[in-house]
Amino acid sequence: MDLDALKANLKKDFKKIVSQEELNQLKVKYLGKKGQITELSKNIKNLPSKERPTFGKKIGELRSLYESFLGSAQEKIELQIINESLEKDRIDVTLPGSYKSQGKLHPLTITTKKIADFFSSKGYLIEDGPEIESDYYNFDALNIPKDHPARDMHDTFYLENGNLLRTHTSPVQIRSIEKRGAPLKIICPGKVYRSDADKTHTPMFHQVEGLVINENVNFGHLKNEIMTFIDFFFGPDTKVRFRPSYFPFTEPSAEVDIMDKKSNNWLEIMGCGLVHPNVIDMAGLDSKKFSGFAFGMGIERMAKLLYEIEDMRSLFSNDLKFLSQ
Ligand code: DAH
Repeated sequence: MDLDALKANLKKDFKKIVSQEELNQLKVKYLGKKGQITELSKNIKNLPSKERPTFGKKIGELRSLYESFLGSAQEKIELQIINESLEKDRIDVTLPGSYKSQGKLHPLTITTKKIADFFSSKGYLIEDGPEIESDYYNFDALNIPKDHPARDMHDTFYLENGNLLRTHTSPVQIRSIEKRGAPLKIICPGKVYRSDADKTHTPMFHQVEGLVINENVNFGHLKNEIMTFIDFFFGPDTKVRFRPSYFPFTEPSAEVDIMDKKSNNWLEIMGCGLVHPNVIDMAGLDSKKFSGFAFGMGIERMAKLLYEIEDMRSLFSNDLKFLSQ
């Protein structure tokens, strides 16, 4: 092929280039081992020596033409690649965002955690106990013998084998003393069961039990702990009152009320007292050496006050509209 024809082809070829791949093919076509310019250059040795300089010069011009075509083609292709990716990745900021619904913690979980956080920060262990309980742990060991009227108030679910669904978390008091001895500081959050259902009662609900056993524990210790807890849970300006009450497993016993700021009514939030010596002895400690205080509260009730929930049953209805509030 002669030089002028090659030059014309070169121009035509580079004009058509649209991809990196085609460009690579052109490099091979012209300057590869068997490329057209390469082949032409080899011919120089067959020429008569006086023609060689002119020919050499022309080949040189051809090469630099090739180089400049190559350079601008390469530039064009790179620009094209950038433009394509800009086009593809373009973000339309006016489109609405994509919505992902996120799970939330259940109000009872949050309430339990808030209670547990307070007591663990004061050194209480968090204990667990069985929901299927024996008569002994649920009643007898808590100073509630078989013919005791307090048993009637518990609306107990009995199982066929004589066991029952625990009616309160208090049996964990006994189990913890048996397991760990004294001194002892525990709370036990968990499910309890009573055959009862209306606006303010569900057959399954949650309680948190608390128990402290040591030497010389007195009512002042109990009162201080509960007041500090109420400050933390309901805020520091909450009015509190301890009202004398009766529980078989504590003596003396009290119920704790807080003043509802909205309705100006006293609301009962927990039972408490000094652990009855019979309970301490039955659990295997010496009541002459050890004393203690205990308290128990309903978690639904605490959640109800924290979130101003009207109907207790909405906590268990799995209504997402309610739960996501
Ligand atoms: N177990 C009681 C109930 O379910 C609540 C209770 C009252 C627990 C006084 C206590 C306590 O530990 O000292 O009604």
